[in-house]
Amino acid sequence: MRRFALTSACIILGSLALAQDELFDFIPDGGRTILERLRAGDMPVALSEAIASQEAPVEDWQTQLAETGLDAWDVATLAQYLASYAPLDPAGELPRDGRDLALALCQSCHIITVTVTQDRSREAWLGTLNSPSHVEIKMTETERGQLADYLVLNAGIPIDQIPRELRAGGASY
Ligand code: HEC
Repeated sequence: MRRFALTSACIILGSLALAQDELFDFIPDGGRTILERLRAGDMPVALSEAIASQEAPVEDWQTQLAETGLDAWDVATLAQYLASYAPLDPAGELPRDGRDLALALCQSCHIITVTVTQDRSREAWLGTLNSPSHVEIKMTETERGQLADYLVLNAGIPIDQIPRELRAGGASY
């Protein structure tokens, strides 16, 4: 009986975790996920070598990613990610992308909607991150830049694409 209760508790917890992940599906993939997808398919050897050895600006990564079959949006997001973090071990554990950072760090005081519905420039995002309400959030300079780059491309999501449970009443400040 007890064992049964424990098993069902695990199943319920497991499906809650899954439901939570699905709730955020509307937020576009970040560079880490896109790179993991590439890695799982056929990543061109030249690209893999470049990621392991090169530090390069966004435009160079965009050119190198053009042949991968990724759509233009994913290319733009991944190029920003690589400009922040490469060189990195393409087979190793990857640093957090802008989506990872937003989900981990931007939901404790207000719902994620406050962030992902804003359409802003990079400078404006960096300004938000350096404002008194946000400056204490633990992030390196590189992570702040990566989050800003990700949000420039991927935030500004129209409110009608936000799941209902995330639309209102979520701010605790
Ligand atoms: C420690 C609490 C806290 C955390 C964590 C937090 N915020 Fe906020 N946020 C606030 C408060 C308080 C306000 C309203 C006052 C203000 O605008 O500064 C706010 C407002 C905002 C606004 C709307 C107002 C503005 O400044 O444009 C945005 C956008 C925003 N936050 C983005 C973020 C992002 C991105 C993160 C994750 C890096 C984040 N927040 C994490 C406290 C927090």
